Amino acid sequence: MTGRNAADTPSQPPVDALAPQEAEAEWLRLAAAVARANRAYHTEDAPEISDAEYDAMKRRLAALEARFPDLAARAGAALPELGGRSPTEVVGGALAPGFAKVRHAVPMLSLENGFSEADARDFLDRVRAFLGMAPDAAVEVTAEPKIDGLSLSLRYEGGRLVTAATRGDGETGENVTANARTIAAIPQVLDAAPDILEVRGEVYMGHADFARLNERQAAAGEKTFANPRNAAAGSLRQLDPAVTAARPLRFFAYGWGELSEPLAATQAGAIARLAGLGFPTNPLMRVCAEAEAMLAHYRAIEAQRATLGYDIDGVVYKVNDLALQARLGFRATTPRWALAHKFSAERAWTRLLAIDIQVGRTGALSPVARLMPVTVGGVVVSNATLHNEDYIAGIDARGQPIREGRDIRVGDWVEVYRAGDVIPKIADVDIARRPPEAVPYAFPEVCPDCGSAAIREPGDAVRRCTGGLICPAQAVEKLKHFVSRAAFDIEGLGARQIEMFFADAELPVREPADIFTLAERDAANPRHLRDREGYGEKSAGNLFRAIEERRRIPLDRLIYALGIRHIGESAAGLLARHFGTWEAFIGTVRAADPMSGPAWEELLSIDGMGEVSARSLVVTLNRSADRGAVDRLMAEIEVLPVAAAPRGASGSPIAGKTIVFTGTLERMTRAEAKARAEAMGAKVAGSVSARTDLVVAGPGAGSKAKEAARLGIETIDEDAWLRLIGG
Ligand code: IVH
Repeated sequence: MTGRNAADTPSQPPVDALAPQEAEAEWLRLAAAVARANRAYHTEDAPEISDAEYDAMKRRLAALEARFPDLAARAGAALPELGGRSPTEVVGGALAPGFAKVRHAVPMLSLENGFSEADARDFLDRVRAFLGMAPDAAVEVTAEPKIDGLSLSLRYEGGRLVTAATRGDGETGENVTANARTIAAIPQVLDAAPDILEVRGEVYMGHADFARLNERQAAAGEKTFANPRNAAAGSLRQLDPAVTAARPLRFFAYGWGELSEPLAATQAGAIARLAGLGFPTNPLMRVCAEAEAMLAHYRAIEAQRATLGYDIDGVVYKVNDLALQARLGFRATTPRWALAHKFSAERAWTRLLAIDIQVGRTGALSPVARLMPVTVGGVVVSNATLHNEDYIAGIDARGQPIREGRDIRVGDWVEVYRAGDVIPKIADVDIARRPPEAVPYAFPEVCPDCGSAAIREPGDAVRRCTGGLICPAQAVEKLKHFVSRAAFDIEGLGARQIEMFFADAELPVREPADIFTLAERDAANPRHLRDREGYGEKSAGNLFRAIEERRRIPLDRLIYALGIRHIGESAAGLLARHFGTWEAFIGTVRAADPMSGPAWEELLSIDGMGEVSARSLVVTLNRSADRGAVDRLMAEIEVLPVAAAPRGASGSPIAGKTIVFTGTLERMTRAEAKARAEAMGAKVAGSVSARTDLVVAGPGAGSKAKEAARLGIETIDEDAWLRLIGG
């Protein structure tokens, strides 16, 4: 936020210029004035100030809270007449337009999913491998129900609840403090708690309460909820605390965020401590000594699922020893120390009406089953994925039969299932009910959208359109990817709008650069976007503004946005951190065109980049159509260089350095060493070059250590490495 906003009057400094103490003082003064005005207006029917003055004060309060999210909770406690709330949250008087944002001190991550006992065993194997333990070594894990609600983070300072926030995108959530205070199971004050304590858990609604709520809603002519999860979310994420208070919400604590001191040495101990502080915790959590005990507890929980009285959708396993959890750490969005073992999906039989082919952003031809609508686990399903042509024919990736070799034909009865939240799939086919006229499905060999040849490369199960950017289906999918959340994330420009603009004759968007010339072209057009149906002055203006805001984009998002096959978010991050700037990146990729020489070697030296991804990158970005599209895009945008260090890593002794590990490490595995180095802001490379800053060499180090010596690069042993990273 820069400059003044509507809430700043000429005599006030912009909110951004205030120190926290100044903001708090101003907040208290304004909140008291608004409370007085509320009383005068609502209770005494004798307004003392004008509506405009009142609105200006509330806007300023909201601006202060947006800038200092915990202000309302902290300062609110000092004004007992507000009941610990901000007047921006309180019923009566105008409601705030939305929730203030809260940045989580520790990100709220999600869980990796497993769908089978094999996945659960594999989880333990990976934990042992990462930690360098023997394959049969004991690892204790906790096993507990995965509650189907919504997660909430409760922050206590000095034993008082100060903020409650939803997960949001994991980094920033919504401030729902006023609502959370109305949930009976959530303590407002704690006795003998750590000074800073963030408790995390799930807000949910029980089955009986859900049924009663829906009856009440229906009787009152209000909307009913599809399931208890939606009811819980709808009750917490609405702006009127009085509504939340009237809803029967419950809470289970299962974890924590920021802490001023550890709760215990184990997961189970920490949860017991939270229970001691007054938080509801789930009675079905057990500590399991090995895989068989863990799976037995999974089955026991599954057997009780129908009679628990609340929805669960699986069992969560967590490594019990918190010191091991700390060593295992996190991947981009999930901890390595936990797994959600989902219950197997619900199934139903229905008829396959047709098979359609969709062409994806990388040209993949994906068969989609059109089904006679059927309810599976409470959701009506009319489409399902058929994966690829082999899957339809009844063959798996290794050429082995699936479904005992039964193929799938239009007209067949098929068994549909949903695994987690993902797209429905087809599990089986009933040959006994196959209509006599059904014929084996002939998979198209030309692209249904552009007519180009669709070919299968050896070893690839997927048939791909060879049309590249000339294929309208690929072009439109690439654009959808370009504006998607992890890419340019342009508000008001989603998949639906992309389809509209792509087909538009007056204001076409056929490639990414067109997005950034949209406003200019619209201004030159006789008929403006704001005059079209579905758009008005405001939404057209908002769209152009949202596009303008993304003209400056971080390098990693840009690389990801290009939608290159095999270059997902994590590879884009690796490339951005390695090259730092767009010029360095594209220069190397273009110089690597013959796929040999130093530029090619440099791409391969990036730890985590394999030959397949590197080849895809070089081939795609050097095709002439793509080169042109990329150059036109670059003329429109400004790329922000990427900071090397991830969150929390600045100030670490290895931040921004490039490290190579070689030889045998004896105290941690390569995987752990690499994860630790990256968490502390370093890059890990696979080979030694002039760009290497540090080599960690264990016993048996050979050519890489020699190369380091030749180049004069600092080389240390594992003990020195451990000292460097603080043990
Ligand atoms: S632990 C680092 N334990 O599942 C993440 N999560 O799919 C720690 N959930 O966002 C989460 N029951 O909202 C954990 N017993 C449980 C849970 C649980 C439900 C939710 C939670 C999380 C989501 C991830």
